[in-house]
Amino acid sequence: MSAKFIPFILASCAVVSNAAGLPRSSDCVGTIASLSDVASAQKCSTVNINAFTVPAGEGFTLSLVNGATVNLQGDVLFGNKSWAGPLFTISGDDITFNGNGHRFDGGGPFYWDGLGSNGGTTKPRPMLKIKISGTFSNLYVVNSPAQAFSVSNPGPLVISSVTVDDSQGDHPNSQSNGLAAGKCHNTDGFDVSTNDLVIENSTVKNQDDCIAINEGSNIVFKNNACSGGHGISIGSITSNHAVSGVVISGNSITNEQQAIRIKTDAVATDSSVSNVTYSGNTATGLTKFGILIDQSYPSTLGVPGAGVPISDINFTGAESTISVASGADRVAVNCAKGGCLGTWDWSSLKVTGGKAGPINNFTGIDGFSQ
Ligand SMILES: *[C@@H]1O[C@H](CO)[C@@H](O)[C@H](O)[C@H]1NC(C)=O
Ligand SMILES: *[C@@H]1O[C@H](CO)[C@@H](O)[C@H](O)[C@H]1NC(C)=O
Ligand SMILES: *[C@@H]1O[C@H](CO)[C@@H](O)[C@H](O)[C@H]1NC(C)=O
Ligand SMILES: *[C@@H]1O[C@H](CO)[C@@H](O)[C@H](O)[C@H]1NC(C)=O
Ligand SMILES: *[C@@H]1O[C@H](CO)[C@@H](O)[C@H](O)[C@H]1NC(C)=O
Repeated sequence: MSAKFIPFILASCAVVSNAAGLPRSSDCVGTIASLSDVASAQKCSTVNINAFTVPAGEGFTLSLVNGATVNLQGDVLFGNKSWAGPLFTISGDDITFNGNGHRFDGGGPFYWDGLGSNGGTTKPRPMLKIKISGTFSNLYVVNSPAQAFSVSNPGPLVISSVTVDDSQGDHPNSQSNGLAAGKCHNTDGFDVSTNDLVIENSTVKNQDDCIAINEGSNIVFKNNACSGGHGISIGSITSNHAVSGVVISGNSITNEQQAIRIKTDAVATDSSVSNVTYSGNTATGLTKFGILIDQSYPSTLGVPGAGVPISDINFTGAESTISVASGADRVAVNCAKGGCLGTWDWSSLKVTGGKAGPINNFTGIDGFSQ
C-alpha cells in the first residue's frame, strides 16, 4: 500500500507510532460498541469492547491482526434465538485477550430444556470458538446455551482465569420436564482438539465435561476447579484421532459424576491415547466413579473395542486424592483384549470411599490396588 493512503485508513482510529516511529495501518485503537463497529475496529492493534448486546441470531466474529490486544470494558450479552451459532469467534496470531473480569452472557435459560445438544430446540454452540495463539484471560462466561468453549488454536495458547458458570442449569425449569435444565451432553466447559494449549486457574460449573480433550498433543490442564458436571475427560475418541502428551495437575473436582475419565468409542479405529500424566488432583463427592477408563463408549462398562489403544497413563508426582460417594466405584478400567498397553505407574493415586470397580483385560497397573 502506498503511504499516501495511510492517513485515510486511519481516519477513524487514534494514531499510535510503532517502535520505529512510523505509523502502520494497524497502529490504532478500535472501539466496538455494536456489531457494525467490528469490521473497522478489528484492523487495529488495540481493540476495546464496550458493553453491548449482540442481536439475536447473529454471531460476534473478531478476525484480528497479528499481535493485537483486545480489552473487554463491559459485559456483552447475546440475544436469544434458536440458531446454530457460534455466538463468538475470535481468530488471529499472538493475540492478548483480556476480559478484565467482565461477562459474556449466552442467555442459557432461554434454550435449556434438559435435552442439551441431543434434542429439543437448536442451541447456538459452541458459545465461544477460540482460534487464537497468545493468551486469553479473565473472562466470566455465564449461561452458555450448550457447549461453552471450543478451542482450536493455531499456535501456543494459554487460557487462564476464565470462569464458565452454568450453575443455573442445575435446576429444572419450565421447559425441562423436571430434568436439570442444562443436563445431557450440553454444557461442556472446554472442548479441545488442538496442540500446545495450557488452561489454568479457571473454573467450570456445569452439567457435562469440565474439559473434553478429543485430539491433540502438548495439552496442560492445571489448577482449575470443576464442579457439578462429568469431570475431566479425554474423549470420547472417535476414529482417526490421536491424543498424546497431556498433563492434568492440581485441579479440584467437586460433586461430579467422575473425577477423571478416558472414554474411547467401542467401534473407533486408527486412533490412540498415550502419555497422559495426572498429579496433585483432588476430588470429592463423585457419584459414579473416581477414575473411569472405558473402551466401550457410548456404553459405560459395556463391550469394549480395541481400535483405540490406550498406553502410558500415569498418576505420578504429587498425590492425587480422590474420594467417591457411597455406591460409586473407586476405579473402573474396562479394556478390550490388547486394548490397554504397557505399564501404568499409579503410585501417586489414592482413592477412598465407595466400592472397588472392575479392571477388565489389563494387568499393567503398577503401584496401586483398590
Ligand atoms: C435471554 O433469555 C434469558 C432467559 O429468559 C434471560 O435471562 C436473558 O436476559 C435473555 N437475554 C437477552 C439479551 O435478552
Ligand atoms: C495462575 O495462578 C498462579 C498462582 O496464583 C500464578 O502464579 C500464575 O501466574 C497464574 N497463571 C496465569 C497464566 O496467570
Ligand atoms: C510425553 O508428554 C510430555 C508432555 O507433553 C512430553 O514432554 C514428553 O516428551 C512425552 N513423552 C513421550 C515419550 O512422548
Ligand atoms: C475383554 O475384551 C473382550 C474384547 O476384546 C470383550 O469381549 C470382553 O467383554 C472383555 N472382558 C471383560 C471382562 O470385559
Ligand atoms: C509412565 O510410567 C511408566 C511405568 O513406570 C513409564 O515407563 C513411563 O515412562 C511413564 N510415562 C510418563 C509420561 O511419565
